[in-house]
Amino acid sequence: MKILVTGGAGFIGSNFVHYIYRERPDWHITVIDNLTYAGNKANIEGLDPKRFDFIKADICDADAINKAVKNCDAVIHFAAESHNDNSLHSPWPFVNTNIIGTYQILEAVRNHGKRLHHISTDEVYGDLELDDPAKFTDRTPYNPSSPYSSTKAASDMLVRAWVRSFGVQATISNCSNNYGPYQHVEKFIPRQITEVLEGRKPKLYGNGENVRDWIHTEDHSSGVLAILEKGKIGETYLIGADGEKNNKEVVEMILENMGKDSSDYEHVNDRPGHDMRYAIDSSKLRSELGWSPKYTDFKQGLADTVTWYQENSGWWKPQKQATEDKYKEIGR
Ligand code: NAD
Ligand code: DAU
Repeated sequence: MKILVTGGAGFIGSNFVHYIYRERPDWHITVIDNLTYAGNKANIEGLDPKRFDFIKADICDADAINKAVKNCDAVIHFAAESHNDNSLHSPWPFVNTNIIGTYQILEAVRNHGKRLHHISTDEVYGDLELDDPAKFTDRTPYNPSSPYSSTKAASDMLVRAWVRSFGVQATISNCSNNYGPYQHVEKFIPRQITEVLEGRKPKLYGNGENVRDWIHTEDHSSGVLAILEKGKIGETYLIGADGEKNNKEVVEMILENMGKDSSDYEHVNDRPGHDMRYAIDSSKLRSELGWSPKYTDFKQGLADTVTWYQENSGWWKPQKQATEDKYKEIGR
């Protein structure tokens, strides 16, 4: 099996590459990534060149994508602009990569008759009230709030249309908030850990009551592999690990873990259009494909993540100042 992983130098893509490298030793992995500010080749260093190669290219580049797709059996499409705050400040790269880039991937898999798994997000469903008993399922209507989530929703729609109109062999997964190693310091958990490591206070948007449904990135990878190997073409699977926590609770857990007073954080301006709550019902993936998450102890997973950032300051320090400068510019 030869797989092409788009966005494999980013957070979730690189964790997926390591997961597959370990779990499927007879597979060959090619990563295609144009190394934006969020991509880092160091994330996928040290892999055996007999089993791994890397192509630096933009997924919007039809020629490069066509060549790479021609040489693989299946494409797992992670590449995206992924940060909501950036999308509010500068939406165009999101429209370009998430919509046009996905279009180019779809055309290439159509031309060459290859299998595609498209990685999406729970944010396409909009948000839930804090007391809503319902969770997102694959039948929840799309209702995205931000430029980021609306471009991901658009990319999902393209995939569905290419399956129905052109018979493209594709599946889609919509996962909840990931955490774990190699996550860019712009994102919530790494930002707070590295703020504490730099001697500053964590920064909570608004009142901190917004809820995210946390999943360890290893569990996202195992869910994607289950869908790739056993999923039904044309189906959408939601990946989640019943990890709902509000942002204030998570900041308090980080502070406690790092030996600080749990109230030692500050409130900053809220994100415009900030989604209140995400929650995933992953029963379809569990019952139909036999998947279940392994990292169900969030406190332990968070402690391991804190340790990773403590031990890998050489990885995150080069991104930190520029990230905080960007936040300063937008007042968060
Ligand atoms: P990330 O921002 O860490 O990584 C994105 C990667 O894509 C980077 O390596 C970047 O260089 C690459 N990339 C961006 N634009 C590209 C382009 N035009 N051509 C080639 N490569 C390009 O993102 P992430 O958090 O790892 O998310 C990966 C995927 O998972 C995205 O599709 C995202 O929507 C989805 N997702 C993320 C989460 C989460 O919690 N982070 C949850 C659910 C789904
Ligand atoms: O739900 C899946 C999505 O999760 C993915 O599709 C996105 O790619 C990923 O970035 C993530 O989106 P969020 O907007 O939920 O993640 P973020 O890490 O930006 O923020 C998580 C929560 O924490 C959110 O409620 C905003 C809040 N927050 C964020 C930052 C950076 C803070 O309170 N303070 C912060 O400094």
